[in-house]
Amino acid sequence: MYRSHTCGELRAASIGEDVTLAGWVQKIRNQGFMIWVDLRDRYGVTQLIFDEERTSSDILKEAEGLGREFVIQVKGKVIERVSKNPQMPTGDIEILVSEFNLLNPSLTPPFTIENETDGGEELRMKYRYLDIRRNPVKENLMFRHKVGMQVRNYLSQQGFLEVETPYLIKSTPEGARDFVVPSRMNEGQFYALPQSPQTFKQLLMVGGMDKYFQIVKCFRDEDLRADRQPEFTQIDCEMAFVEQEDILNVFEGLTKHLLKEIKGVETGNFPRMTHAEAMQKYGNDKPDIRFGMEFGELNKLAQGKGFNVFDQQELIIGIAVPGAAGYTRKEIDALIEWVKRPQIGANGLIWAKYNDDGTLKSSVDKFYSQEDLLGWAQTVGAKVGDLILVMGGDTNTTRVQLSALRMYLATRLGLRDPKVFAPLWVVDFPLLEWDEETKRFHAMHHPFTSPKPEDIELLKTEPAKVRANAYDLVLNGNEIGGGSIRIHDKETQAMMFEYLGFTDQEAKEQFGFLMNAFEYGAPPHGGIAFGFDRLVAILGGQETIRDYIAFPKNNAGRDVMIDAPAKLDDAQLKELHLQVKI
Ligand code: AMO
Repeated sequence: MYRSHTCGELRAASIGEDVTLAGWVQKIRNQGFMIWVDLRDRYGVTQLIFDEERTSSDILKEAEGLGREFVIQVKGKVIERVSKNPQMPTGDIEILVSEFNLLNPSLTPPFTIENETDGGEELRMKYRYLDIRRNPVKENLMFRHKVGMQVRNYLSQQGFLEVETPYLIKSTPEGARDFVVPSRMNEGQFYALPQSPQTFKQLLMVGGMDKYFQIVKCFRDEDLRADRQPEFTQIDCEMAFVEQEDILNVFEGLTKHLLKEIKGVETGNFPRMTHAEAMQKYGNDKPDIRFGMEFGELNKLAQGKGFNVFDQQELIIGIAVPGAAGYTRKEIDALIEWVKRPQIGANGLIWAKYNDDGTLKSSVDKFYSQEDLLGWAQTVGAKVGDLILVMGGDTNTTRVQLSALRMYLATRLGLRDPKVFAPLWVVDFPLLEWDEETKRFHAMHHPFTSPKPEDIELLKTEPAKVRANAYDLVLNGNEIGGGSIRIHDKETQAMMFEYLGFTDQEAKEQFGFLMNAFEYGAPPHGGIAFGFDRLVAILGGQETIRDYIAFPKNNAGRDVMIDAPAKLDDAQLKELHLQVKI
């Protein structure tokens, strides 16, 4: 038996007991006549004591030779501490060591294994196994496990079956690039790793599984950001004989359950917003509604007053920045510079301060009367003491730019409180999205998403206006999940492929298996997938998913610990029928 107890478990009630502990040396304090060692494992830290009077000289010597992160096993008696540490759960006791066993020495770690470490990101990634010993990383992984268990329990109780789907498949159309795997046995042919189990879960519905879920790895070769990894995990779900309302209810239930069990937060019914409304009010299809700052449309009030810049524009919109009327000229100039950066690309900002005395002072006083500006204030919901910021331009571009500014300011003003949870459904997404590069429409969600029946006619005349039975779950400004009601008949699916520019031949080659399956009694079905990493991170109060993944990739998509991706040797390349480039 390596240990009788963990390092986190002994309390005053065990004083007098003989115990065996094993773990890593966190800290050593050597006072000459007395040595204290903090012994750490996953469960906590327990103080060991070795002293001249009570410990044999052999063991004392061993203790003197210890270094940080050595792995040891000790036997000893639980005794009461002279100076107790109320900060530590085990702070009332210590172990007077009587037997000592060095299980493994350790090199000095390249960074300190403390809550606040001196190691930079890249170094910690390289030695991720050491980083995982630190409380913040360890606790995040434990938190992830807890959320995963709640998800599994909840969905199982609701009658969902977890079914595994294959990883070596054919391309799935989720819109990113595929990671591909060459086939040794089939020369010149490749598997693709799934961007999601989308087609398989639909086939499971044809197979009569009725309610499916899977906590599953997905792979997407896309540019990385804080909330994106090339391999990530989804809570992937599908249900048969359902309408959109059924899916929203079940997964609102799951989200409420998680908020309650994990965060102790009770939430009412989630608000719902159409995609069009989200874009109009927030310029964003994943609005953060923890705070206001909704857009006000000012075309009527700002055009035709002699201010040429605005007269030409398709859309003039503004926001009220709470309590910011006192911003100095310099601070406002900095905001103007911020929106002009290439990442945002705006031409500039017009501002108006709603002063404490009720008057308004703007950068365009020449063109607008107090009455005009009061109209602006009313439209953007500004109160006395607020700063109004206004932009004009193309509808879509301007909305996206003002949304970026809204989020930037909200973060700066501390309005994005990670302890507050504001979920909502965004519904009625457009079915199609115009792609400038390829000059054609793409499926906004994926090509299996059903159009709203009442909009099908518009496919021929105004395809951009066709709405889909598609929805996203948004939490605190993050897209946590997305799904749709699927097409389940061959004709509609064939028509969709045609609109998306697939020839019959291409559609058959890529998705023939699905179209065939639809001929064997496919039930009406729909589903959703949550980004598990994102969900866990947001519940944990952060937005960087890497912190909740045991072995994440860096921003260049590399695992710097195992040094992947890596070259293959010539023999292996040859076996895979891949050309060897010199
Ligand atoms: P979608 O592509 O919207 O839908 O993905 C579902 C959710 O997965 C998360 N996500 C990611 N998380 C981390 N890193 C990434 N690279 C990444 N990409 C996506 C997001 C997203 O909301 N098959 C459909 C679902 C369906 O229709 O049922 C799908 O995959 O949180």
